[in-house]
Amino acid sequence: MPSFFIDVDIAKAKTIDTDFYTQQKFYDEAKEKIFASSWQFIGDAGKTKNVGDAYPFLLLENYLNEPLLLTKDKQNEIHCLSNVCTHRGNLVVYEPCKLNQLKCRYHGRLFSLDGKFISMPEFKEVENFPSKDDDLHQLPLFNWGELLFTSLNTKHKSEIFFQEMMQRMEWFPVNELQLKPELSKDYYVDANWALYCENYLEGFHIPFVHAGLNQVLDFGEYTTEIFRYSNLQLGIGKKGDVCFDLPSSSPDYGKEVAAYYFWVFSEYDVQFLSMGIICKCCRAA
Ligand code: FES
Repeated sequence: MPSFFIDVDIAKAKTIDTDFYTQQKFYDEAKEKIFASSWQFIGDAGKTKNVGDAYPFLLLENYLNEPLLLTKDKQNEIHCLSNVCTHRGNLVVYEPCKLNQLKCRYHGRLFSLDGKFISMPEFKEVENFPSKDDDLHQLPLFNWGELLFTSLNTKHKSEIFFQEMMQRMEWFPVNELQLKPELSKDYYVDANWALYCENYLEGFHIPFVHAGLNQVLDFGEYTTEIFRYSNLQLGIGKKGDVCFDLPSSSPDYGKEVAAYYFWVFSEYDVQFLSMGIICKCCRAA
């Protein structure tokens, strides 16, 4: 991928070259160079609530499409595994279910819930078998409270990327977060992913596009803080509107904070997680 120059001085920076948004080769290259090497949100711990739960999914469906599997083993530990059998590449689990072991339906290879190879019919005479390569590939799993993240190919520890967000929100009961499907909405955005990132990362459009949000946020007090691997947009509520009841240990104590919008990225913008409580147009968890 060629380098697209962005001036670090915001007063001089311009939109990335049009080719980045329109050419298929850049879209494809971004899979490996940006998305595979970053931490991605993959759901909440409720997907594997009980011992034996197995939850198959595609990582970034319709883009990376990597078949992965969440399992909970007998020690109550959650694992993120490749859902591709180490024999001939068949999918191991097809739908969410409860299992004692993982059994590939193609030739019967058996794995434990943590992905370790157990047995394989008709393979008694095979030399140097089994080896570590016969285990299902285990991916790193990072959990912030109930929220789970993984990465196909990261070179960096998750704690480095998430540390500013975790420190800033230390007071927040992230373990108590619950998904309320009746309050959730999915939007299909027919645009290059980078355009969506750019939209998220600037607040100038709020007065023009989000009338409801603009009513409750004090746009003049909206701030952006930039960290090494993340940034924070802080929404201050208008007088008397709903805001967080912050403890004195919070660095924001004394402010009428109505929304925290964090964006976590690697060397390139890739993964975001937002959290807030009042955004009516762009509802956040
Ligand atoms: S592909 Fe899984 S056992 Fe053969």
